Amino acid sequence: MQGRTKLNVSDILAKKEKKEKISVLTAYDYSTARICDKADIDILLVGDSAGMVVLGYPSTVPVGMQDMMIFCGAVARGTKRAMIVGDMPFGSYQVGPSVAVENAVQFIKAGCDAVKLEGGSEIMDTIKAIVDVGIPVMGHIGLRPQTSSLWEGYKLQGRTKEGAIKLIEDANALEKAGVFSIVLEMTAAEVAGTVTKSLSIPTIGIGSGPDCDGQVLVLHDMLGIYEDIRPRFVKRYAELSNEIFDAVSNYNHDIKAGTFPEESNTFHMDAHELDKWKNEQRRRRRI
Ligand code: KIV
Repeated sequence: MQGRTKLNVSDILAKKEKKEKISVLTAYDYSTARICDKADIDILLVGDSAGMVVLGYPSTVPVGMQDMMIFCGAVARGTKRAMIVGDMPFGSYQVGPSVAVENAVQFIKAGCDAVKLEGGSEIMDTIKAIVDVGIPVMGHIGLRPQTSSLWEGYKLQGRTKEGAIKLIEDANALEKAGVFSIVLEMTAAEVAGTVTKSLSIPTIGIGSGPDCDGQVLVLHDMLGIYEDIRPRFVKRYAELSNEIFDAVSNYNHDIKAGTFPEESNTFHMDAHELDKWKNEQRRRRRI
């Protein structure tokens, strides 16, 4: 385990210069944030994917600021070293720069160190406005779940020459607007590699091949907890839903069989007090 000093924007930028890969995972609660932080994950992204994997919505669209504030506060309380990036939910920044700044400020007050917004050149003014008040911004292009779910669904981006050119233009626009890093989601590896080489800020890939400066996965996907969707780009590092199922089934069985709680799980009265209480019960029965 490295030092527990909090990572900041310049530490993340320095990793690209030193060609050190950046590790990113989503986190939504205190206990898992503590574990990820202890494991030296560089950035914890409080993703609006919480809407799907924690709250059970079919997409990230219904997630609101109030939901995100609760998740961000919990993650911040569990984190000492990792940089925390809060994902601005659908509707919290599309209305315009001043609403976006107000909402970005709420993320910082909840304990985040930066915010993330989905979008390309069309949100440059919004990004500039947030960066101008001193809040670091992470961009997010390629597949943009907040709006992809409303248009064409979750499809690979940068499949065509036009798509590749647009992604490179968007990445350059975001760098110009002042973002400190860019998530590239489900982008053809060739395009992700070219974008990564052409930028001085790091790219964080998810389903975008090995050439990005860092990688991010949704925690519930890589732990094998979320079972509704299984994207091919996810590597499962555990099958926790099986383990949780077995544990919960055993618990259920033990209760029904009367084998839980055991003596080691049980508390008793002080022996002397128990005697006094029993005598008292006897005395009352005689009255
Ligand atoms: O919400 C999220 O988890 C994300 C990642 C998929 C990058 O935006």
